[in-house]
Amino acid sequence: MKIRIALLSAFLWLCSGLSAGEVEVLHWWTSGGESKSVEVLKNLMEEQGHTWKDFSVAGGGGESAMTVLKSRVFSGNPPVAAQIKGPSIQEWAEEGVLTNLDQVAARGQWDSLLPEVIKHAMKYEGHYVGVPVNVHRVNWMWVNPAVFKKAGAEVPTTWEEFAVAAEKIKKAGFIPVAHGGKPWQEATIFESIVLGIGGPDFYRKAFVDLDQATLKSATMDRAFTILKMIKGYTDKDAPGRDWNLATSMVINGKAAMQFMGDWAKAEFTNAGKTPGQDYLCLPIPETQGKFIYNVDSFVMFKQTRKEVQAAQNDLAKIIMEPKFQEVFSLNKGSIPARLNMDMGGFDIYGVASMNDFLAGSQANTLVPSMAHGMSTTPAARGAVCDVVTNFYNSEMSAKDASTSLAQEIQAAY
Ligand code: BGC
Repeated sequence: MKIRIALLSAFLWLCSGLSAGEVEVLHWWTSGGESKSVEVLKNLMEEQGHTWKDFSVAGGGGESAMTVLKSRVFSGNPPVAAQIKGPSIQEWAEEGVLTNLDQVAARGQWDSLLPEVIKHAMKYEGHYVGVPVNVHRVNWMWVNPAVFKKAGAEVPTTWEEFAVAAEKIKKAGFIPVAHGGKPWQEATIFESIVLGIGGPDFYRKAFVDLDQATLKSATMDRAFTILKMIKGYTDKDAPGRDWNLATSMVINGKAAMQFMGDWAKAEFTNAGKTPGQDYLCLPIPETQGKFIYNVDSFVMFKQTRKEVQAAQNDLAKIIMEPKFQEVFSLNKGSIPARLNMDMGGFDIYGVASMNDFLAGSQANTLVPSMAHGMSTTPAARGAVCDVVTNFYNSEMSAKDASTSLAQEIQAAY
């Protein structure tokens, strides 16, 4: 992802043509619940007198958005701000194209307000280059309790129980698992299985350290086997389906459950559903008390015009303010990234998520999401997603899949 100096100067020149205070923001929040959430940020920026230029690129997980971002930066025309996360923040910072946010961070005392894992992710060589929006938890299971009841099935806490429940649900004429057959969605389920059966240390060895022996271990074979078992309980129209359409299947009682991060909650909220009653949100089997985190964040691309720089500072400042952190997460299904927030307005699942996040932070058991770009470079993440999806969509054995996982990751370096 090396950008030539010539392109860099071209984009600085082009940026000087932006109109005053205009903030073009690249993001991939396009589902019903996501759009409502991003509206919160837009309104707060407009209250400050800035003009919001929406640059949304549809596609859950953000892969399409990242492809578009690259082409915009390479052609010398980056957006003012972009939704980027994890180690790719550092990759962009290394290119020298990101705005340093140290001043706004110092004024807002970010160092004392952010948990270690988040602070670390927002900095490059000790300087702030990213601002955290929220914390999503990935390892959630969304349940329609009415469907379980009609099928006479118990909500599962282990993969064995899952198989029993899924059989009953299928026999009762419902789809056990609503799934969107896209690589990032398969990787999302896979990483939760790995955390559940392997635990946090195993997960880190696999998806942070990319340790060869761990990647091709018997535990990894088992994770692949469980993933294939889940596939047997999805419907034939799953391939290519968007994640939010899968969530709708749980909302409207066509399907019993979905394995998805808590951005899915935004769809339930948007549909006027009551948590704990119309739907349940529980850890994916075998991940009770475990937490895969996925932090949404923004970076700002260097600008020459003072007005645009001021707008970038305002954007960063607003994102870290308690008002935004609370309202955005209430809409988005996440929890605030900022510590010591009043959780009074959050539902039982938001409160539980925050408690687990803080406990995991103390016990050092939080793990970063591989599927959502938090644990490793885009190249390694791409290799894992490719293997997982190839396995999911073929007759490949679990053993061959884990061998291929180790090989592909090695080749990505
Ligand atoms: C992002 C969420 C988003 C989800 C689906 C995740 O990678 O962190 O903010 O809602 O993808 O698009």
